[in-house]
Amino acid sequence: MVDYEAKNISPDASFLEMLDLVNEDLLSKGEEPIAFDHDCREGICGACSLTINGVAHGRSATTTCQLYMRKFKEGDTVYIEPFRARPFPVIRDLIVDRGAMERIQQAGGFITARTGSAPDGNAILVPKTQADAAMEAAACIGCGACIAACPNGSAMLFVGAKVTHMAHLPQGQPERAERVLKMVRQMDNEGFGNCSNYLECEAVCPADIPASVINLMNRDYTVASLKEVVA
Ligand code: SF4
Ligand code: FES
Repeated sequence: MVDYEAKNISPDASFLEMLDLVNEDLLSKGEEPIAFDHDCREGICGACSLTINGVAHGRSATTTCQLYMRKFKEGDTVYIEPFRARPFPVIRDLIVDRGAMERIQQAGGFITARTGSAPDGNAILVPKTQADAAMEAAACIGCGACIAACPNGSAMLFVGAKVTHMAHLPQGQPERAERVLKMVRQMDNEGFGNCSNYLECEAVCPADIPASVINLMNRDYTVASLKEVVA
């Protein structure tokens, strides 16, 4: 751990803007800035992976870029660490390599939907409850907070969200079994832990992904494995 002083920070500054100011100060003194990950700064890309005072993204249901300095008191000591999990090697300072999450998504493969011009809006009817459930799961921004928060380093909320998103849509049905088998196996190969219902993942998730996505993934995986054995 290295001590830095953050001076003249407005309560309206975001956490990342505070780090920008600390880095400007370091650069003006000819010192190395702190390396940290960020991109959209709007809570949608999932890049700003910091553990703040022991909590992924600093508090529940937010991203680091949407955390504001008014949540801290003048003179507070704030502990900032990179997201910790065995499959997240630290690249430098506060930046970890979350490529394992991308490899899980890639393992899921493509869907056989027609591409080209936009289809007619009513060509494939999706019941409202199914559409809502798919949209809820699709809100996952792939930030990795669920993994960093889990004592087991489990990626099951993240993978469950990706599996659930497509499992609720008609377009996701042809490859449904193959997709869940490949994604869960890639998750295991990457070294993520299993879920033992701590529910720390659900508590920190900035997209409010419910832990029920893990149930759907487990059910789909079991059914697909049985079919594989029978075949
Ligand atoms: S499930 Fe939530 S915490 Fe996990 S990667 Fe998706 S958005 Fe982030
Ligand atoms: S920088 Fe994109 S979600 Fe925080």
